[in-house]
Amino acid sequence: MANAKIIALAGSLRKNSFNHAVIEHAAELAKQQGAEVEVLSLSELDLPMFSEDIEAQGTPANVQVLKDKLRSADALLLASPEYNGSITAALKNAIDWASRTEAGATPAFQNKIVALFAASPGGLGGLRGLNHVRDILSGIGAIVLGNQLAVPAVHTLLDDSGKIADAATSDKIAGLTSQLVEVTTKLNS
Ligand SMILES: Cc1cc2nc3c(=O)[nH]c(=O)nc-3n(C[C@H](O)[C@H](O)[C@H](O)COP(=O)(O)O)c2cc1C
Repeated sequence: MANAKIIALAGSLRKNSFNHAVIEHAAELAKQQGAEVEVLSLSELDLPMFSEDIEAQGTPANVQVLKDKLRSADALLLASPEYNGSITAALKNAIDWASRTEAGATPAFQNKIVALFAASPGGLGGLRGLNHVRDILSGIGAIVLGNQLAVPAVHTLLDDSGKIADAATSDKIAGLTSQLVEVTTKLNS
């Protein structure tokens, strides 16, 4: 049975992103369960804002990196901050770029199993934005797990180094992460 290959990504460009902290935590837990996990950073990828004019000049190198990594993965741990009740521009931009399919190539999100997380200092944890992320990904071939996790008051749950330190939150992240690894591993077998 092949190990699950997972990309972990947060839809934030912020240096001390809470959503990145969630995804780092989930990534560590997934590795402990035997998955191969690569954590990507949208701020490091530094994708240009999507334009068909830019695309017509050739796929930018970092867009190609993102697409190749998505294509070679089985699953995604994805944490989306909520901006004005919806997905961030940075995450939508990354999805828009990755959704563009070269002739004969597999769509990057096709059949990817996705676990959705959100984290916010607010009381709903970014929950409303996840509905939008779910709709978008489901429409481009991803299989989004029914369970999802929104972490409210996330700024109170970190240690001094910015890592998730709250045991109850860690358990919740572990629950969804385990489901992703389990479902992906079963589909791989
Ligand atoms: C433009 C903008 C809109 C926001 N809208 C919401 C919102 O609708 N709901 C919410 O819970 N937090 C909202 N926030 C606060 C974010 O949850 C907060 O900035 C959070 O730290 C973003 O996630 P990150 O730390 O991973 O970057 C908003 C922040 C910005 C900059």
